[in-house]
Amino acid sequence: MDDRASDQHLVTAIRHAYEDGADGWASGPTPVYRRLAEALVRATPVPLVDRSVLDLGAGTGVASQALLDVGAHPVGVDLAESMLRHRQSQRPPGVVADAQLLPFAGGAFDAVVAAFSLNHLPDPAAGLAECRRVVRADGVVLASTFPADADHPAKSIVESVLVAFGYHRPDWYRTFKDRIAARTGDARQLGQAADRAGLVDTEVVREEVEAGLDRPELAVAWRLNMPHTIAFVAGLDPEVRARLRTRALAALSDDLPSTVPMLVLRARAA
Ligand SMILES: C[S@@+](CC[C@H](N)C(=O)[O-])C[C@H]1O[C@@H](n2cnc3c(N)ncnc32)[C@H](O)[C@@H]1O
Repeated sequence: MDDRASDQHLVTAIRHAYEDGADGWASGPTPVYRRLAEALVRATPVPLVDRSVLDLGAGTGVASQALLDVGAHPVGVDLAESMLRHRQSQRPPGVVADAQLLPFAGGAFDAVVAAFSLNHLPDPAAGLAECRRVVRADGVVLASTFPADADHPAKSIVESVLVAFGYHRPDWYRTFKDRIAARTGDARQLGQAADRAGLVDTEVVREEVEAGLDRPELAVAWRLNMPHTIAFVAGLDPEVRARLRTRALAALSDDLPSTVPMLVLRARAA
C-alpha cells in the first residue's frame, strides 16, 4: 500500500471506531474531556466572546459547550456523524467532514479550536494548514494533544487488566499511537508542524488539568469506553465484563493523580 492509501485506510478505520463508539464516548470519556476542553478554551490568547469558532473534531461537543460558555459562536466539524448526533438538538450546528479537507471558505472563522483531534490526522501539518486557511488573517488556532512522554497512570494500569482478559490493541490504534500521537505529543514537533503549516507566533505549553481522575470509577469508565477498547469490552459476556471492571477498579490505587497532562498549541494566521 502506498503512503496515500495507507493514510486513507487509517482515517477510515478511525472514522469507523468513533462512529461505533459514540455512545461509549458519551458515557465514559466525555466528563474527562469536558474538563480538558474547558482548560483549552481558557488558554486562548485572545478573548473569544462574539467570535466565530470552528470546533475541529467536535466529538460529543464539549469544546463547543466551553466556547458557548465564553460567549463564542461555535460550529462543529467531525468525521464521525454519530459523534455529532449526540445531544444534537442542544448544541451548535455540526458538519460531517474530514479535518484535512474542510468544506469552508478561506477566512470563514475568527478561530479554530481543535481539542484532541489533530492527533488523529496522518499529516497533522496538513490539518494545521487547513486550520490556517479557514481562519481570517490574524485569527487564532488553539489545539490540544496528550504529551507522549507522560500520561495518567490509569491508562497503562487499565490496559494491562484488559490484556489479562484477552484484549489487544486494534491495528488502527497501534498505527495511530506509533505514527501520529508520538509526533503530536512532542512539543517541539507539534510546534514545527504549525510552522510548516504557515502559522506564526507558535507557542506550545504543557499544562496539568484538574480532571477529577483521582476517582477510580471515573478513570475506569474513561478507559473502558475509548474507541479502541469499547468493542472488546462490549463483546464480553456480561459476567466477564463485570469481573473485568471490578479487577480494573481494584488495580487502581487510592492515590491516583486527579490531573492529566495536556499540550496546548497556540498560533496565529499571518
Ligand atoms: C479524542 S476525540 C475528541 C473529541 C472532542 N474534541 C473532545 O475533546 O471531547 C477525537 C475526535 O476527532 C474526530 N476525528 C478523528 N479524525 C478526524 C478527521 N480526520 N477529521 C475530523 N474529525 C476527526 C473523531 O471522530 C472524534 O470525535
